[in-house]
Amino acid sequence: MILKDRIAVVTGAGSGIGRAGAMIMAREGAVVVIADRDKVAGEATACDIHAVGGRAEAVTTDVGDDAAVEQLIVGTLDKHGRIDILHNHAGIQVGGTLTEVGTDGMDASWRINVRAQFLGARTVMPSMVAQGGGVILNTASNSGVFYDREMIAYATSKHAVVAMTRQMSLDYAQHNVRVNALCPGWVDTPFNGPFIAQMGGRDAIENYVRTKIPMGRWASAEEIAEAILFLVSDRSSFMTGQALVIDGGESIA
Ligand SMILES: NC(=O)c1ccc[n+]([C@@H]2O[C@H](COP(=O)([O-])OP(=O)(O)OC[C@H]3O[C@@H](n4cnc5c(N)ncnc54)[C@H](O)[C@@H]3O)[C@@H](O)[C@H]2O)c1
Repeated sequence: MILKDRIAVVTGAGSGIGRAGAMIMAREGAVVVIADRDKVAGEATACDIHAVGGRAEAVTTDVGDDAAVEQLIVGTLDKHGRIDILHNHAGIQVGGTLTEVGTDGMDASWRINVRAQFLGARTVMPSMVAQGGGVILNTASNSGVFYDREMIAYATSKHAVVAMTRQMSLDYAQHNVRVNALCPGWVDTPFNGPFIAQMGGRDAIENYVRTKIPMGRWASAEEIAEAILFLVSDRSSFMTGQALVIDGGESIA
């Protein structure tokens, strides 16, 4: 077990990639705090982890609520004495061009995708410095390293996640806190539901994925979890400030 007894906090772990990452961390011996705004989904992930002999607890958290983010971190530190891993994963996708996205959609994208990660990292950092190190993983997207059409709020906020990750990593590398960004491409989770509907349904998206992604398919959440495990474990011990792109070649096509 490569994360034995490490304390991990994962936001948005009630579904999809966050859930798969929480499961693999628990499999490797971590105690995982599942922080999802959906109480039922968060508790279901914790139950799934218990069912396979892992350790997890659900703390219902909306990362758009500053007090809830601070309470998540402070409450975990009070209970477990340390946080070794913070995976800031929860995010939203607001589609549209400049004239289609309102200030509300732009503000929401920055609040959930950027500001919540800033606040979570800011709150946990003093404890990581004091304990001699830690790992922060910020979920961006391959939309954080290239540009999608009609995605101004999503692409700019995800580019900001990569920039913020690099800046954090530079400022805290001397304290042995590693900060990296996870940049998946198309992963088959409920996250893409609204975009699939916009594209005209499942057949349309399957055709898009087959023709536009060099590898011709989606990723599974479990494939992304392997990269998460690498990034939050000592297997990536000399890696910080990097954006790891896992997208079947989409961003280089
Ligand atoms: N699925 C993809 O294709 C894909 C690709 C690139 C990046 N991402 C990124 O991954 C993240 C989520 O994707 P997923 O596929 O795991 O999604 P998902 O829809 O399967 O799961 C998202 C989870 O986050 C929770 N959540 C949403 N808003 C929240 C909030 N404000 N506070 C706490 N929890 C919240 C939801 O309840 C849900 O359980 C996002 O940051 C997204 O940008 C996804």
